[in-house]
Amino acid sequence: MKTDTPQPIHLADYAPVPYLIDSVDLDFRLDPQDTVVRSRLTLRPNPARSDRGAALVLDGERITLQSLALDGTVLQPGQYRVEAQSLTIMEVPQRAFTLEMVTRCNPSANTELSGLYVSGGVFCTQCEAEGFRRITYFHDRPDVMARYTVRIEAEREQVPVLLSNGNPREDGVIGGTTRHYAVWDDPFPKPSYLFALVAGDLGSVHDTFTTASGRDVALGIYVLKGKEDRCAWAMDSLKASMRWDEQRFGREYDLDVFNIVAVPDFNMGAMENKGLNVFNDKYILANPETATDADYVNIEAIIAHEYFHNWTGNRITCRDWFQLCLKEGLTVFRDQEFTSDLRSRAVKRIADVKTLRARQFPEDNGPLAHPPRPAAYIEINNFYTPTVYEKGAEICRMMLTLIGEQAFRKAMDLYFERHDGEAATVEQFVQCMAEASGRNLAQFFTWYTQAGTPTLTAEGQYDAATRQYTLTLEQKVKPTPGQAEKQPLHIPLGIGLVGPDGADMPLDLDGVGTLNTPLIEMTEQRQSFRFNNVAKRPVLSLNRGFSAPVMLEANLPTADELFLMGHDSDSFNRWEAGQRLGRNLVLAAYRGTATAADVSAYAAALKKIIDDAATDDAFKALMLLLPSESEIAAAIGADVDTDKVHAARDGLRRAIARQLAKELDDIWVRTAEPGPYRPDPASTARRALRQTALALMVMGNPAHGIKAALAEFDAAHNMSAEIGALGALVQIDCPEREAALDQFHARHAHEHLLVDKWLLLNAQAQGPDAAARITRLTQHPDFKWTTPNKVYALLSGFVGANPAGFNAEDGSGFRVIADAILKIDPVNPQVASRLATGFRSCKLLNSSRKSAAQAELERILAEPSLSRDVFEIVSKIAAS
Ligand code: BES
Ligand code: ZN
Repeated sequence: MKTDTPQPIHLADYAPVPYLIDSVDLDFRLDPQDTVVRSRLTLRPNPARSDRGAALVLDGERITLQSLALDGTVLQPGQYRVEAQSLTIMEVPQRAFTLEMVTRCNPSANTELSGLYVSGGVFCTQCEAEGFRRITYFHDRPDVMARYTVRIEAEREQVPVLLSNGNPREDGVIGGTTRHYAVWDDPFPKPSYLFALVAGDLGSVHDTFTTASGRDVALGIYVLKGKEDRCAWAMDSLKASMRWDEQRFGREYDLDVFNIVAVPDFNMGAMENKGLNVFNDKYILANPETATDADYVNIEAIIAHEYFHNWTGNRITCRDWFQLCLKEGLTVFRDQEFTSDLRSRAVKRIADVKTLRARQFPEDNGPLAHPPRPAAYIEINNFYTPTVYEKGAEICRMMLTLIGEQAFRKAMDLYFERHDGEAATVEQFVQCMAEASGRNLAQFFTWYTQAGTPTLTAEGQYDAATRQYTLTLEQKVKPTPGQAEKQPLHIPLGIGLVGPDGADMPLDLDGVGTLNTPLIEMTEQRQSFRFNNVAKRPVLSLNRGFSAPVMLEANLPTADELFLMGHDSDSFNRWEAGQRLGRNLVLAAYRGTATAADVSAYAAALKKIIDDAATDDAFKALMLLLPSESEIAAAIGADVDTDKVHAARDGLRRAIARQLAKELDDIWVRTAEPGPYRPDPASTARRALRQTALALMVMGNPAHGIKAALAEFDAAHNMSAEIGALGALVQIDCPEREAALDQFHARHAHEHLLVDKWLLLNAQAQGPDAAARITRLTQHPDFKWTTPNKVYALLSGFVGANPAGFNAEDGSGFRVIADAILKIDPVNPQVASRLATGFRSCKLLNSSRKSAAQAELERILAEPSLSRDVFEIVSKIAAS
């Protein structure tokens, strides 16, 4: 056990800093082993503080202080104190003053990939959340906003490209040396987490964008040499994002240049540094031979997300890290809207709800549950969570639903106008929503401060005599760690009463009249809504469009669910009815109560959807997918046998595939690639349906399906088809899959992003020896413990995409992941801690599995030098 238990930081303890920093001049002498950073800060007492005379305490970590001067006078050792995490200057003037420092660091020894490090031979930084303190001493917190100028000096030959935030001001060679320099100037005050520097021998592609007001912006994408021909999609996505933010939110870009850099070693997906976004290269590089449809869609969305932060995050930043969802939830909401506007809104909504259910609901339903705006944390890097991001986005969407498009846009304009250049809070954001709409959002605010997913039970009563339909709703949130009592939430609910012909009937709400918008608002714990003049017994379609992130229990009869699946005018709820039916069938199979007639009725309903020429292929593909094994496990709720869940779900898939054999074959013939690969929405939808069909064919008739998959794999002329074929094969334990996996590796071993795909496919492979395969692959020369993408592909891939393997009854899955966490933690605690969250649902398991998992958690906690990151996650899970 750790001897010094890490202590939490509380939102309630927030206080402004005693000294503000107005400007920062940085001068870097880059050297892989010994980089020298000169920093000149101008400071002044913070007028927001009433006290005077406090010592100046700056953050700093793993840097060596070389010299320190205040207003030009070198400070003597007795005048300051250097500790592991800080630099304290006991006395500073109570007026404006300057501080000059020289520090050194070793970028090539930085395996945590936080601060200044080297990736693929390139110098690169990652400062969010608290990495800037590993570069120089600073108030490394977001409410300290300063203007930066940056001078970079390095060897001309080895490091020809020198980039930082803002606009380029000057560059040149240093006479009589082999070195050169560049100076960058960022006119917008920013917090230190948005600082970035990139330098190295990079290739680049360039373009321009003319803003709505006619300013030209120079766009650049920088990649490792030789990859320049894989940047076109990223560049198109960037221009589309810039245009969309102008059109939808009236937000223009504000600097003369916008640069993106792609590096192979990166903890996260991408980072929104002002004017210099840095990306994990898997979210930039694309061509038909190396990127799948999913990659193309992700690249487009992530470029948009980071670009949108320029307004929601950078121009207006967060007062403190508790407000993280202010920038992340809002920016996810904005990137979701971008994708909805560019592609299919219905398909995007379903995809987002699937992600929410796969990632956020399990978090909210277990030991790691926390509100979208947490009140305490031990390690901030652990709070970049699905709750902050995805539930944060759902909260923004609910406000849009409640106040309407027009008021929402007005509120956003007000927010940008009022808080530009500031570090804001969630309260200030919601205040703009309330003011612009004239609505009271006080109760609504509870969504930000209360953890847990509400369960909503709905009961409808139709009275044919009075032609009234009464809907009674009840909301409940189970206790979560540290929050035993729960308040009722303000829940917007999209609603339809569907008549026997499939058409929506008018909504005449008692006491209100005909509803202009098909929306009801629940504010009490238990509440009834009576609708008048309902001509026929309606079928209830509630929470349309997934208007609120709740678990709905409507308990409709199967016949009504089948009816909605075929007829609901709300396509989200058509899909949702199919999901509920599918879930109930898997649950019945798990409990041994399934009937052939129910399965057959479900398959027949699917057949109707497949046969409907008017329905989009992507929607058909989504209808053909059953809820995931972890969703089923959550629905079972306790004492779960994950092998039985897997068998029950696969059994149902086999039955569906057999009944739909002809339809699947027809899809297979109809969806063959007609020409060169194109990533447009229609082609992407067609391939999604093709791959879903193939996966089912392999289940229904293995000999036939395997043959089709192998033919696709051999003929494949694009990566989507290759991965589609292999993804279908890895579902079943067969010799063909091993040969195909070997062949994939032989074909693509030279391309690191494809090696990652190969690792992920292996991680998904079903069978009794799943954990042994993982162990074997960690010893493969292509696997690297220090590269986050390798760990995410193989190990996070195993935890997330192979629940039967990870939760194996003999504990082998837990053991291989616990070993990996202990191995990675000293190298990169952020990556280790993300892997550890995989244990968050183990309390749902049956006792043998639960105790096997608990033993591994305790083994991790016994490590004396465990990081704060892993300690926080593992101790919370183990204690639950
Ligand atoms: N600001 C984050 C990146 C980040 C996260 C930095 C955590 C430091 C710690 C960035 O805007 C982001 O959210 N990236 C996401 C992708 C996005 C599309 C949701 C990521 O990296 O996963
Ligand atoms: Zn973000």
